[in-house]
Amino acid sequence: MQAIRFHAHGGPEQLRLETVPDPVCGPSDVVIRIGAAALNGFEPMILGKTTALKTPLPMIPGGDGCGEIVAVGERVEGFRVGDRVGFHPFVPGEGMTGETRPGTCCELVRVPADRLVRLPDGLDFERAAALPIAYGTALRMMTTRGAVRAGERVLILGATGGVGTACVQLAKRAGAEVIACGSAPWKLERLEALGADRVIDTSRENFREVIWRLYGKPRMTGGGGIEVVVNYIGGETWVESLKCLAPGGRMLVCGATAGYATPNDARYIWTYELSIVGSNGWTMEDQARVYAMAAAGELRPVIDSVRPLAETADAVRALIERRFFGKLVLVP
Ligand SMILES: NC(=O)c1ccc[n+]([C@@H]2O[C@H](COP(=O)([O-])OP(=O)(O)OC[C@H]3O[C@@H](n4cnc5c(N)ncnc54)[C@H](OP(=O)(O)O)[C@@H]3O)[C@@H](O)[C@H]2O)c1
Repeated sequence: MQAIRFHAHGGPEQLRLETVPDPVCGPSDVVIRIGAAALNGFEPMILGKTTALKTPLPMIPGGDGCGEIVAVGERVEGFRVGDRVGFHPFVPGEGMTGETRPGTCCELVRVPADRLVRLPDGLDFERAAALPIAYGTALRMMTTRGAVRAGERVLILGATGGVGTACVQLAKRAGAEVIACGSAPWKLERLEALGADRVIDTSRENFREVIWRLYGKPRMTGGGGIEVVVNYIGGETWVESLKCLAPGGRMLVCGATAGYATPNDARYIWTYELSIVGSNGWTMEDQARVYAMAAAGELRPVIDSVRPLAETADAVRALIERRFFGKLVLVP
């Protein structure tokens, strides 16, 4: 089959289109012909080896994918050749797809059948590929873990990416007021079109100053600040985020793109009785739910571009240079 692979860590120049052996279908597996794959914020981190994960080389990138079953192991029940499926990319014992097990930027993938999730009618491969990691993570963070409610004011940092565009939609569905951050005017226009009530251009303004100007500086006696900050950026944004929160406010965290070892200021956490709520991954049920919501038109997977597999390096470059909005999709 054709696959994109990297043999050494580095930048997008390491990504090559190659002919590699087809995956072998084990007794409890299926093989899926990829209809569409999607990239996520972790691709540059895995490629550049900026995480502690041990990625076996050569590696096929790509965390998300879906398509049609072309082979079924003898012990598999309930699925057959021709079924349209996606799969949960975390496989117990093998790890995350595109991180420690082969990714989806290729023509065929092997998946244990117990990680399969059926695609509903009416959901095409490109939109389905955009959903699991970004929308699954956002669903768990905004509902199960974050319990975002109607009337709350929710600041979303890096709202222009995969998880961010999903969070904007989910917060609006919950009835929250959404303040969305992006790093370029053209991205802010798209955030407004997506439903954000207010937008902040972080290339020109400090988001904490804007929040204080709009909602007032938080006071222990009440008044000022907002209820929720969604922060997977980390780095220098951590303390500034705490300073935005009203007493009892909560910061929802599922990552730290700009740095894990964030400077902290513990005073804000105890003085304002803030909660830092971690959120990691999503369930198979969550994944089925985001597929169903997208098929019903309740959630709109935001797709920046659909490119042929051979252009994976260009798509990863766009991700690194922050020249995209939503999800980058690839088709074999
Ligand atoms: N724990 C989990 O289960 C889980 C699952 C999925 C993702 N995550 C994490 O969540 C984060 C977002 O993932 P994603 O897939 O949505 O990423 P993404 O599509 O690349 O979006 C990230 C956004 O962050 C903004 N950003 C701000 N500062 C940045 C910086 N220094 N470098 C790069 N981008 C920066 C960018 O928007 P602007 O240019 O507009 O600022 C970008 O659109 C990542 O840290 C990822 O590892 C965690």
